[in-house]
Amino acid sequence: MSTVFDAIKSRSSTRGYTDEKLTEDEIKKIVLAGLHAPTATNRQEIRFSVVNGDNPVLKELDEEKNKSFGNGRPGAVNFYYGAPTLFILSAEEGFKWSRLDAGIAVQNMALEAEELGLGSVIIGCIEGAMWGEKRAYFDKAFKIPEGYKFEIALAVGHKGTSKEPHTFDESELVEYV
Ligand SMILES: Cc1cc2nc3c(=O)[nH]c(=O)nc-3n(C[C@H](O)[C@H](O)[C@H](O)COP(=O)(O)O)c2cc1C
Repeated sequence: MSTVFDAIKSRSSTRGYTDEKLTEDEIKKIVLAGLHAPTATNRQEIRFSVVNGDNPVLKELDEEKNKSFGNGRPGAVNFYYGAPTLFILSAEEGFKWSRLDAGIAVQNMALEAEELGLGSVIIGCIEGAMWGEKRAYFDKAFKIPEGYKFEIALAVGHKGTSKEPHTFDESELVEYV
């Protein structure tokens, strides 16, 4: 049986996907993993938009992102690497813990994707486009409610590429005091 720690250790960013769609059950479990994440003062200020990778607005968002952020990694088909599903997390604007809470939720979701044998990658590079002059248009298209703001996204699908988990030098990063 795999443990949470197994999923934490084996997860890595997936930047290429097969055409296979996620099942409703997989999508539901990933959303639930986000909903189970703690929020400061239990405010539950995160909203989740589940976007089909075929949604034409994602192409527009990709073009908008490219204006300010460049075309991304060599070989990347688009900012979400052709994943069949993109989970967009938005949060109440002005609440001081929104960004942190969104980060906690998105990692919960990435770990659930890992447990399901799926690949995922956290996507922040669209923030300029999401917050730019077409913000109202994108917010409406992704059903981000009034008073909420894009925070982070997670692309999920079946792995078409593989990458080893990142390495680190524990002696540089940790102090026992
Ligand atoms: C807040 C945040 C934003 C990120 N945004 C992007 C992104 O826009 N595009 C991308 O390809 N990867 C993105 N990543 C993935 C990181 O590049 C990746 O997690 C890091 O290189 C470590 O690799 P690993 O996930 O395989 O361990 C993001 C990760 C985080 C935590």
